[in-house]
Amino acid sequence: MFLLPLLVACDPAEDSGNPLVYAFPEGFRWGAAGAAHQIEGGNTNNNWYQFETLPEFAGKTAEPSGAGVDGYARYEEDADLLVDLGADVYRLSIEWSRVEPARDTWNEEEWAHYGAVIDALRARGVEPMITLHHFTDPIWTYDLTDVECESGPSDTNLCGWTNPEVPAEFAEFAAEAALRFGDRVDEWTTFNEPGGYLLSGYLGGAFPPGEMNLTTGSVESRIFPVAAGMLDANAAAYAAVKANDLVDADGDGVVARVGFTNSIQWIVPADPDDPADVAAADRVRGLYGYLFPDAMINGLLDRDLDGVPEESHPEWAGTCDLLGYQYYFRMYVTSVPNFPPIEAVPCDRTMLSIFGLDPAVLGCPEVNEDDVTQMGYEHYSPGLGLLAPEMASRYPGTPLRVTEAGIATTTGKRRGESIVRQLAGLSEAIEAGAPVDGYIHWSLTDNFEWADGYRPRFGLYTVDRDTFARTPNEGVDVLSRIIADNGIRRDLWEQYGEGEHLSPGE
Ligand code: BGC
Repeated sequence: MFLLPLLVACDPAEDSGNPLVYAFPEGFRWGAAGAAHQIEGGNTNNNWYQFETLPEFAGKTAEPSGAGVDGYARYEEDADLLVDLGADVYRLSIEWSRVEPARDTWNEEEWAHYGAVIDALRARGVEPMITLHHFTDPIWTYDLTDVECESGPSDTNLCGWTNPEVPAEFAEFAAEAALRFGDRVDEWTTFNEPGGYLLSGYLGGAFPPGEMNLTTGSVESRIFPVAAGMLDANAAAYAAVKANDLVDADGDGVVARVGFTNSIQWIVPADPDDPADVAAADRVRGLYGYLFPDAMINGLLDRDLDGVPEESHPEWAGTCDLLGYQYYFRMYVTSVPNFPPIEAVPCDRTMLSIFGLDPAVLGCPEVNEDDVTQMGYEHYSPGLGLLAPEMASRYPGTPLRVTEAGIATTTGKRRGESIVRQLAGLSEAIEAGAPVDGYIHWSLTDNFEWADGYRPRFGLYTVDRDTFARTPNEGVDVLSRIIADNGIRRDLWEQYGEGEHLSPGE
């Protein structure tokens, strides 16, 4: 935990009784995020919808996304919520399957819709940060009614990223988005959490296409080819946005900054004194946390999965101007000899139970129950700050931004604690030199949490499941004060910052 809060210089006359104890640099960006499929509702033309509704995938998701949180219709209202929060950036995604429902066919009404969303944000002084791919694929790129691609690739089923036509189509979509919105958008994210998407979809089976390859050792035959397709897609989309967004929309000297957002947890060995666990944690970190940034920034791939990338890929290098990082939990890793693909597993209760592995027998540490969130993992506040120097030293010269962090809870106090403690650690990391230029909270409103459905509540604004009414919870109070102060004042720290564990609650 944090020992003594740093006392930061501020105007003593103004705030003598309640000084800032953690501060952020001038110009630090503050925002919140959402993603199309999780909020809009009515997204029936992508393969997540198939995954939620086709009988062959029954049980994979807790419930279908259905009407979302009515975000498609309520974009003006949600833009107002961002203003209430004090945000200057909103991270949102364009649903590819809406604007291109069939191959090479643009839907003009849907493009106009996203144009209106962008305009609504900018009219309120909120800059859009656009994600082009947030977990969902148009059905025509990979139709789950023929996952094995038995009929062969066609215009209605290109059979996924391993077909070079899919990266090429993604780049066309990226070019079109940049052409249409480049005058109003400067910040672009190609893929959201490509590592999470890849490993959940093609290794753990929790995302479309639902492949469970954990015990088959098929990293060579499946994981790397899909990753390579996505990396080709990223490189092509990067070039496409740069070629088509030629306007500095907000006048800050940046015409187009193109990056991606990386899922990276605080990954530690279950037993730090056991060299086998230490090496296992390195391997998991390499595969889960660093595969994509290593490739997009340094043009390297860890082909032998030992945690150290060695294979050179200049065609992917230099295709990330801004590295977004997204952090949610501490992941203990234990070594499990002869367990493919990397002889290591995360101490994840759900995953271990699928394979009949007992966490205690494997040597997984006990976690304090108060720190376990609605997602079943351990919330560990210091992780957000600890990750920043680790990434800064691995990718020198690449600016970082927290593009997601948050907590699934229905208890306001826990959300407040999570925000204050994580941001305190982040402030310290920045003070120590980590080049983090902003913080985007996940999420603005409650939304569809993929396989877990609507139960986990990540929103700063709680959404009534029947009326879709949005109500600010304690998270808004806490984060809006931090944003207004560009830092954490003593009273907020005393109320939420102290204590090793989260307050009890769901
Ligand atoms: C994803 C979000 C998700 C969040 C919370 C991130 O992995 O980008 O879509 O809702 O984590 O689980």
